Amino acid sequence: MEAVKAIEMKQISKDFGSVQANQNVNLTVYNGEVHALLGENGAGKSTLMSMLSGIYTPDSGSIFINGKEVDFSSPKDSIDLGIGMIHQHFKLIDVMTAKENILLGNSNEKGLFINNKELTKKIKAISDQYGLDLKPDKKVYEMSVGEKQTLEIIKVLYRGAKILIMDEPTAVLTPQEIQRLFAIIRNMKEQGCAIVIITHKLNEVMEISDRITVLRRGESIQTVETKGVEVPALIEMMVGKKVDLALNKTPATYAKKVLDVDNLWVSTKDNKHALENITFSLHSGEILGVAGVAGSGQKEICEVIAGLIPAEKGRIFFENENILGKTPRDIIRMGIRMGFIPEDRLGMGLVGSMDIVHNIILKDYHSQPGIFLHRGKSAEIAKKIVKQLDIQTPSIHYPIKKLSGGNIQKVLLGREIDSFPKVLITAYPARGLDIGASYKIYDLLNEQKEKGVGVLFVGEDLDVLMDLCDRIMVFCGGKMTGIVNPDEMTKEDIGLLMAGGTAEGGSNS
Ligand SMILES: Nc1ncnc2c1ncn2[C@@H]1O[C@H](COP(=O)(O)OP(=O)(O)OP(=O)(O)O)[C@@H](O)[C@H]1O
Ligand SMILES: [Mg+2]
Repeated sequence: MEAVKAIEMKQISKDFGSVQANQNVNLTVYNGEVHALLGENGAGKSTLMSMLSGIYTPDSGSIFINGKEVDFSSPKDSIDLGIGMIHQHFKLIDVMTAKENILLGNSNEKGLFINNKELTKKIKAISDQYGLDLKPDKKVYEMSVGEKQTLEIIKVLYRGAKILIMDEPTAVLTPQEIQRLFAIIRNMKEQGCAIVIITHKLNEVMEISDRITVLRRGESIQTVETKGVEVPALIEMMVGKKVDLALNKTPATYAKKVLDVDNLWVSTKDNKHALENITFSLHSGEILGVAGVAGSGQKEICEVIAGLIPAEKGRIFFENENILGKTPRDIIRMGIRMGFIPEDRLGMGLVGSMDIVHNIILKDYHSQPGIFLHRGKSAEIAKKIVKQLDIQTPSIHYPIKKLSGGNIQKVLLGREIDSFPKVLITAYPARGLDIGASYKIYDLLNEQKEKGVGVLFVGEDLDVLMDLCDRIMVFCGGKMTGIVNPDEMTKEDIGLLMAGGTAEGGSNS
């Protein structure tokens, strides 16, 4: 029996003015299949999926859903045909409960006053069927990212979706949450759903997908069976040539201490300790990694150094001055920068409607206190960042919200790095970036190190942490379980520390 085609896109093209986002793209997805959509930042993945969900209309080409040609004039048409899209930036209302969010904008619900009990029952039935875990009465602002995503999934399933599109669902999840999501995806697949997943993490593509379609510069290059392909071949399809992914680590100089953190404690709202007795030094000319399962204090260590949250006790010396208690602005002026890649990329100090130049002026890093950066200078900086990070944009005067997700992120990071910091704190800088761009960022961090910047790098991929960092601090539940030299430790050793074990040698703080 031939499997049923849930989605068939034929010769789809779409441009935005001078930008050809999709060109003659072909994509077929079967029921009961997990299909990965792969491509560099700006390759046209989100645009293609937005045409399936009725947000954009193709300029040319045709779309078939379950064998029937369709012509969506709005997202509602797409929802009515059983297509559900989980966007990277969640579209939930924070002050409402899970239940209220599920009801919101639900086009299938004829009676406005659906019985509360019935709704709860239906949510429970969906949760049971697909192995989801959701508290219907919990408010969205109280939820973790993983919970919010579960809610988004239930929301589309509630509307009867059988075709699920997930645009970078794993970018901001912890490894445990990713495994939970994958279990849900496998479950949906078993029930005959068709699933399209976009992710830049190739190990995830290999783990979860049955087939892969690669886009490059708006065109569909190839569709392959996951079983029959290896990662280097995928990268070559994406980039168009063989790429050498190696980091050149130069030895750290440990020239002088730039940050001296001593007996630092930070408490959370509910009086628990987010950080307990943390002591370490960061030197100029080194990359100090921070490893740990998510929520082990990584966020807090970044924020307390940047002056965004207070400490309970302890000291943070920066060039022999205690910076605890200083304002974030003072700390920035002293030369400490934080390139923190947040869950909501547009939320972090970028204004979507402004162009790259004005987003650089906005931060006003480069000027003396009280003197504003003039446009000419920031245009220069913008040009430099665009070139250095290979940001795909028609010009530096293009509103950044029109850039692809990964390219927005490069603007954010470029701005921080170009501000000549003495200390650069960066957390998950490669989230949402394609593999080439990720390595470009790592190269840039290495460059900063060679210039004498002290880099604190919070990472989630242990392989990257070990390749990039001179030393790695391991956090577990707010405590530091070791500072290790990655050349003298195995990944397993570090894994043990992450779980709260103790180090056997290899430490050199
Ligand atoms: N609304 C828009 N207006 C103008 N240009 C757009 C718009 N949406 C997307 N583009 C452009 O279309 C191209 C493809 O973007 P798209 O967002 O589809 O890429 P992507 O493959 O999803 O990339 P990423 O991995 O970075 O998310 C990019 O050059 C982008 O700047
Ligand atoms: Mg995208």
